[in-house]
Amino acid sequence: MSAAYYKTEASVNEYIELAKDVDGALLIDKLKHYLPSNSSVLEIGSGPGTDWNILNKFYQVVGSDNSEEFLKHLREQNSNGQFINLDAVTLKTDEIFDGIYSNKVMHHLTDVELNKSINRQFDVLNTNGIICHSFWRGEDSEIFKGLFVNYHEKINLEKFYQDKFDILYLDYYNEFDKDDSILIIAKKK
Ligand SMILES: C[S@@+](CC[C@H](N)C(=O)[O-])C[C@H]1O[C@@H](n2cnc3c(N)ncnc32)[C@H](O)[C@@H]1O
Repeated sequence: MSAAYYKTEASVNEYIELAKDVDGALLIDKLKHYLPSNSSVLEIGSGPGTDWNILNKFYQVVGSDNSEEFLKHLREQNSNGQFINLDAVTLKTDEIFDGIYSNKVMHHLTDVELNKSINRQFDVLNTNGIICHSFWRGEDSEIFKGLFVNYHEKINLEKFYQDKFDILYLDYYNEFDKDDSILIIAKKK
C-alpha cells in the first residue's frame, strides 16, 4: 500500500530524526552467519540509510526505496553508493543478488502484496540466495500516521515464506519493547 508519509521532505526529515538512535546492527550480525562477506545484497526500503551504511562495510550493497525524497537523501549522504527506486512489491529490476535485506519495511505490505513480493524476491535471487527481513510483531493491521501497518506472528510468517524458502532463522527480538519484533532469515529453495 502506498505510504504517503514517507514521500514528503517534512515527513522524511521527521522520520530521520525519530529513527536516529536505532539501527539494524544486530540483525546484520545474524545475517552474516548465513551470507558470506562480499556477497551482493539488495536492501529494500533503505530510508535514512543507517543499515545501508552497516551493510556496505561487508557486502556489495545496492540501496533502494520507493520514496524519491529518501533516495535524494541517500544519494546526498553517500555519493559513492548505488541507490535505485524500487517498489517492494514489484521489485522491477533486472539485477540478480545473493541476498535481500529489509528492516521494518515489509509490514507496510498487505498480505496479498507480501505474497507478490516474496515471489519477486525468489526471482531476483541467485541459487541459494538469502533473505533477511524484520517485521513488527502482533495481530491484525492498522493505519498509523496515515501508513498501513500489517502485524505478523512467527507462525504466519513461516506460512508466507515456506513454499519458496527454507527458513534458517525465525525469532522475536526487542526493538522498543520485549519481543515486539520478528526477524526471519531464509534460503531460496
Ligand atoms: C519504517 S521505514 C524503515 C526505513 C529503514 N529500513 C530503517 O530501518 O530505518 C520504512 C521504509 O520503507 C519504505 N517503503 C515503504 N513502503 C515501501 C514499498 N512498497 N516499497 C519500497 N519501499 C517502501 C519507506 O519509504 C521507508 O523508507
